[in-house]
Amino acid sequence: MKTVKIALLGLGTVGSGVKNILEEKKDQLSQKLFEKTGEKKVIEIKKILVRNTDKDYGVDKAILTDDYAQIINDPQIQIVVELIGGQEPASKYMEQAIEAGKHVVTANKMAIAMSGGSIEDKAREKGVSFMYEASVAGTIPVIRVIEDSLVANEIQKISGIINGTTNYILSKMMNENQSFESALKKAQELGFAEADPTSDVEGYDAMYKIAILSKLAFNIMPDLNDIKRTGIRGVSISDINKARENANTIKFIAQAEKCRDGVRVSVSPLEISKDHSLANVDGAMNAVYITCDNAGEIMLQGAGAGSRPTASAVVSDIFAIAEKL
Ligand SMILES: NC(=O)c1ccc[n+]([C@@H]2O[C@H](COP(=O)([O-])OP(=O)(O)OC[C@H]3O[C@@H](n4cnc5c(N)ncnc54)[C@H](OP(=O)(O)O)[C@@H]3O)[C@@H](O)[C@H]2O)c1
Repeated sequence: MKTVKIALLGLGTVGSGVKNILEEKKDQLSQKLFEKTGEKKVIEIKKILVRNTDKDYGVDKAILTDDYAQIINDPQIQIVVELIGGQEPASKYMEQAIEAGKHVVTANKMAIAMSGGSIEDKAREKGVSFMYEASVAGTIPVIRVIEDSLVANEIQKISGIINGTTNYILSKMMNENQSFESALKKAQELGFAEADPTSDVEGYDAMYKIAILSKLAFNIMPDLNDIKRTGIRGVSISDINKARENANTIKFIAQAEKCRDGVRVSVSPLEISKDHSLANVDGAMNAVYITCDNAGEIMLQGAGAGSRPTASAVVSDIFAIAEKL
């Protein structure tokens, strides 16, 4: 039996989901690895990086470390799974792991988009995998679809609802006539919005994700400064009423579209027809709508966040790497 040893960086919402799924589905994953590779393999978490090893995470303390060197210098650890979030130290840790010849999995849209593609370039140079399915639209396998299923296509446009917080708020405003402030408060009470909602409501989160999709679909990682970004704070009840009178709805749409001089990328609240498939994606759900030459139009829908939905995507990346080891 071959053991694929991995390290998790961070044991928060997503990290604990990954740990739980890997434990609960250990036999199923080993069985699937056997079916795919003909080899008996098991995925094992060897170390978990946290800030405070005295904190009770409900795991065996021997597995915890607050010293990244213990992970980076351990030749048995083949995959580093970054689930800390934010730009630093996450980016530095991922680069160090790649430098040390380790494969990297992450859910960190901010670090990927802000690196401008350099982390991925470094991984390619070092001949290791860099996988990030969970970074865009949580559990929706949109990156696999673009990279694998649509290889026979030229993608013309990607548009989507890729931020659950803003979709929840706009759905409340549209369906229940609530003001932005009261819908935001409700979202915060239910855990759909952070105490500081800036990244979501001002569109930064969606901007990072559409930048990643743009790179995948058009091979151009847009300069974040060139992305037209308008948040949803300015959406008023009178905008909502006007959309309703027009038999339309308002959705927070991120889109990247091929144009004559490159790719046009934007994130903004838009009035869209109620007949459009994206119009019926309500609450905290995410959906991505892809227009391409041969396959035509495709829509993928699912949970954009949450411990287990996001961890499901992270584990699929870990599995894909384990298959090759
Ligand atoms: N939550 C979601 O639904 C979701 C969905 C899609 C993508 N993501 C992405 O997934 C990543 C993780 O998000 P999350 O929601 O799981 O975050 P989280 O709940 O805040 O967890 C972050 C974890 O990282 C640890 N950490 C922070 N700084 C650290 C450092 N310097 N060294 C070591 N550990 C450190 C934290 O430790 P403490 O225990 O000390 O706080 C915590 O365990 C982010 O990139 C996020 O954008 C999240």
